Amino acid sequence: MATITRRDVYGLGEPWHPILRAYALAIGRMKALPATDSRSLAYQASVHGFGSESDPPPDRFRGQCQHNCWYFLPWHRWYLHYFERTVRSLLTEIEEVPDEVAATWALPYWNYARDAGAAKLPPEFGSPTLWDGRPNALYDDTRLPEVNDRSAALDRVQTVPGRGVIDQPFSAPTSGVATFGGTASGWHHFREPGAVAGGLEGTPHNDVHGFVGGNMWRFATAGLDPVFWLHHCNIDRYWEVRGHDADPSGWANVSFDFRTETGAAVRVEADGCVDPEAQLGYRYEDVTRPDGLLGGAVRRFEMAPGPELPPEVVGTRGTVRLQGRRVDAPMAVGAPSGDFLLSRGRDREQRVFLTVNDITGEANPGISYAVYLGERADESCRAGLISFFGIEGTGGGGHPLGYAFDVTDIVHTLEDEGAWNPDDVHVVFEPVGAVLDEGRSRTEETAPVEVGSVSIAYQ
Ligand code: C2O
Repeated sequence: MATITRRDVYGLGEPWHPILRAYALAIGRMKALPATDSRSLAYQASVHGFGSESDPPPDRFRGQCQHNCWYFLPWHRWYLHYFERTVRSLLTEIEEVPDEVAATWALPYWNYARDAGAAKLPPEFGSPTLWDGRPNALYDDTRLPEVNDRSAALDRVQTVPGRGVIDQPFSAPTSGVATFGGTASGWHHFREPGAVAGGLEGTPHNDVHGFVGGNMWRFATAGLDPVFWLHHCNIDRYWEVRGHDADPSGWANVSFDFRTETGAAVRVEADGCVDPEAQLGYRYEDVTRPDGLLGGAVRRFEMAPGPELPPEVVGTRGTVRLQGRRVDAPMAVGAPSGDFLLSRGRDREQRVFLTVNDITGEANPGISYAVYLGERADESCRAGLISFFGIEGTGGGGHPLGYAFDVTDIVHTLEDEGAWNPDDVHVVFEPVGAVLDEGRSRTEETAPVEVGSVSIAYQ
């Protein structure tokens, strides 16, 4: 199997590059196929989510998406792989696609952090018509209008993983620990109690879903938007930017079911995809670390305790309501218990986590909130972002959202400055809206969300 190369959609260098022409024509085919055909876009989207988010999956092929857990990355990698194979096989049947394009075609990725222009929807997706005036299957009229007309751009901080995330442990067996890939769990379509999303699933993943809007807001419809696949390709790429040497071994016994490009059923192992070139036959054009963008001077944690150690919660506070405005939520933080200190050894560096959990709401507000530790709320104390993909339905007893941030270096900075007072710790939420042309902001009228708990823990 020859290796195919997934390229940056913004690096293709010309409007309607042959890769995008081919993609648009294939998506057109997929939209025209009946939903019972596993190659149809409707079927492909239902592999991710089906009907209502809180319904059980209808079969082992549909309603399978893995979120808020450590299967987020491997499941979506396999999902993209079979989608890409389906597109490639359809391309061979489309007369006007040149053979050499079909033979080497790979899914492009949307690297919104490439430059300021790339923080907007790739233009070919916002045009109702193709290069020659035919209707464009890449256009999705459910997106927010300012996304399609490209007057809105993602905020810079929404486009790259948050501070330190790329260097965090891949996973942790207990909730409330900040990780790259999410809390360890069993297979689950819905959230396990207390589990939190991995840092990459948060930002940029959930932020970009929120930014685009429409179909991209819901698990059951996200895959209907042709840009979903380019977005996930970029998320998958970040796994390669990190490198896959230290990924978890505990995946071996979980498998996923998919349908291939011929409709045949396959069962694959979660750990059968960690090396994409060797195992799946694709590579990325560019996997360099966008170092300057990853949250500034974040201290590395070579001395960090192993992720298997459960954290000890030293402060909590209840409900914070957010609706497009800055909210300062003060709380008090206690000292870790003597037992905790003993079990860690005095000279080990402790990690400090800020967990924002039990997030619920009726509708996606289409914006994110930056979470700061410390009243001054500037970049040096930004813990990360919270965003709301899948929030609809959390009100009815569904799966609340949750995030954990490693704030160790922020606490050290505040301590060094004499600005850390455990009796009066400020957690500040600041809206991060899409940046709109003409000085308008998406934060002005926005759906409310509720954060059920905020806590600080030592590990
Ligand atoms: Cu399972 Cu971006 O979604």
